[in-house]
Amino acid sequence: MKKLIVANLKMNPQTFTEADRLARAASSAARKVKNVEVVFCPPFVWLECLAAEYGKKAIFGGQDAFWEERGAYTGEISPVMLKNIGARYVIIGHSERRIHLGETDEMINKKIKAALGAGLKVILCVGETLKEHRAGRTKFVLARQLRKDLKSVSKLNIYNSKLVIAYEPIWAIGTGLAETPMSAGYMADFIRRVSGARRVIYGGSVSAKNIKGFLSRREIDGALVGGASLDAGEFSKIIKIAAYV
Ligand code: 13P
Repeated sequence: MKKLIVANLKMNPQTFTEADRLARAASSAARKVKNVEVVFCPPFVWLECLAAEYGKKAIFGGQDAFWEERGAYTGEISPVMLKNIGARYVIIGHSERRIHLGETDEMINKKIKAALGAGLKVILCVGETLKEHRAGRTKFVLARQLRKDLKSVSKLNIYNSKLVIAYEPIWAIGTGLAETPMSAGYMADFIRRVSGARRVIYGGSVSAKNIKGFLSRREIDGALVGGASLDAGEFSKIIKIAAYV
């Protein structure tokens, strides 16, 4: 299976010009490697233009999607809309949405089903807080999130790689304190066994310096990259390294 490298730009950058520059660099790096699937997830406002421009070289994804297809839901974007503008993936349940927007496992569960139903591939994010980590509760937290988030999600979708799970320890996000490849691998293995997912990736302070360590673990199939995806050179380097691990 190809390594999966996903850029989550979050609420960046501020202009289309800059988003275009980053997408161009990522898609050009993606074109040069055969065994890496590169997914670029910009803010919604840039997504359609970028997917139209670079969609042949890189794959595009949304950072979230609502659970209904249409209707009176001010500000929301439906999975069908994403699909119609050329997105193939969608990130669901990112910890920043759980924390800042109060997304619950029940909401995430509905979003996953709607996105899969619309024909999108889902990247579900799970992970523990620092407090839970220190208390040795990581496995308990992951198991609880997976059980609730994947409640009555079709096993077929899970097994045939329509669902990717990203292990993102919250304390490792944007802190420069990445989990060790060994522990991340151990948790990725746990996630795979609990969920049945075939693809498990790691996210949290991934950089060109540490990507090799993560991808060298057989349990880790790729990376979800935040901050480093905002640096065109750094992200291209990550893609290049992924191709040789
Ligand atoms: P950083 O790579 O900036 O730590 O962010 C990780 C993340 O949240 C990706 O979804």
